[in-house]
Amino acid sequence: MQRRQLPLTLSAGGEINLVPRYLETPAQAVVSYGGSGRFCLFDMWADRLPAYFEPTVRWLQSLGLTVVLAHPERMKAVQDQPELADYFQQLGLLLQGNLYCLVESSLAPRIATRTAERFLCDGRYFILGSDCHKPDSLPTRFQGLARAIQLVGDDAVSALTKTNPATLLA
Ligand SMILES: [Fe+2]
Repeated sequence: MQRRQLPLTLSAGGEINLVPRYLETPAQAVVSYGGSGRFCLFDMWADRLPAYFEPTVRWLQSLGLTVVLAHPERMKAVQDQPELADYFQQLGLLLQGNLYCLVESSLAPRIATRTAERFLCDGRYFILGSDCHKPDSLPTRFQGLARAIQLVGDDAVSALTKTNPATLLA
């Protein structure tokens, strides 16, 4: 990118999949945004929040990390019980939504789009991400971006896609 003079900087990071024994991970092996040790991102798949959820989040926080939960709108536990957003807030979690979940598709069933719309309109998200695994899925992500702007406006979406994400790497 530097050679081609593209105005883009890539920062390494990763998404932690929260499994039952994750808190046995050596602290230095916990992946954080930009490797800064300040923010980390995790996802999990659960019909109900498991007993290890809160202890693991609290353990990550005890390492000095601000913890971000990825795409809660895709979790059945959250789809069934969107009020869990209050509990996440009490725990000090930040939420990252997936843009494509704002548009109904084979990837995002109606229950996911309904949850995502609700969280977006209620101001639950700190970030909206593309979660783009492959370039050919970009059109759906951009449709989600357009839908987000339609729902909450340019300024709010700019905060969720630029201002707030920038704080993770500041
Ligand atoms: Fe994920």
